[in-house]
Amino acid sequence: MAVIAVYSVKGGVGKTTIAVNLAWCSASVSCRKTLLWDLDAASGAGFLLGVDPSPKHAAQSVFARDVEPEKLIRRTAYSKLDLLPADESLRALDALFAQIGKRKRLARTAAGLARRYERIVLDCPPVLNEISAQVLRAADVVVVPLPPSPLSARAFDLVSEEVRAQARGELVVVPVLSMLDQRRALHRALRAEHPDWPAIPLASAVEQCAARRQPLGAFAPVSTAARGFGQLWTAIERRLARG
Ligand SMILES: Nc1ncnc2c1ncn2[C@@H]1O[C@H](COP(=O)(O)OP(=O)(O)OP(=O)(O)O)[C@@H](O)[C@H]1O
Ligand SMILES: [Mg+2]
Repeated sequence: MAVIAVYSVKGGVGKTTIAVNLAWCSASVSCRKTLLWDLDAASGAGFLLGVDPSPKHAAQSVFARDVEPEKLIRRTAYSKLDLLPADESLRALDALFAQIGKRKRLARTAAGLARRYERIVLDCPPVLNEISAQVLRAADVVVVPLPPSPLSARAFDLVSEEVRAQARGELVVVPVLSMLDQRRALHRALRAEHPDWPAIPLASAVEQCAARRQPLGAFAPVSTAARGFGQLWTAIERRLARG
């Protein structure tokens, strides 16, 4: 089992969109039993998969009361893809982790799911606190979406520092140019600086994921953006295979 976190300290950079589409690639292209675990109280991942939130505010109970994650996991419309949904109870998750005081609480809970899942994709909130620290200690790969801008470069430096502080040496960091618009000079310049980084184009098809509440592969599988997600997923699988 491998844990792939989609994380940045910066908000609105495409984390949830990438997490949902990578989880779909894992389940539908790689045919791996996959869990998308939403750690953001805003519950965007469930929304994008068309799973409506449960009225019970139970997401935190996995950590607070040792409730089995299996009790909260929901099936999705997609074969091999399940969701561990978020809800507003996760707003207090940072404080809860601090109170529990176990550095590897999330990592241990994820490891407990290894019998059922080959891949766990974490959709993370844009924070730099005990939640991100727990995520980085649990992950094998961290995908960091970076819309081409100087602020993103700064966010990437912060994430890299945090990885050094929290993670084991073997955590693989995968920067991704997200919302790349080749019509803009700044975007072209950053693309030229990092030609080997995976890229997801700025595309109305990607925005449509939120309107249709479906991953891109379900309604536009041959679009440029769907190919971008596919290539990113293949790059992640290759890194995992290399160990
Ligand atoms: N490649 C893209 N092309 C066009 N729109 C995109 C692309 N990626 C994301 N978006 C849009 O940008 C917005 C923010 O995306 P998303 O919610 O995935 O970001 P996020 O990093 O998860 O945000 P938050 O920090 O609030 O959780 C959404 O409206 C989404 O549809
Ligand atoms: Mg999000």
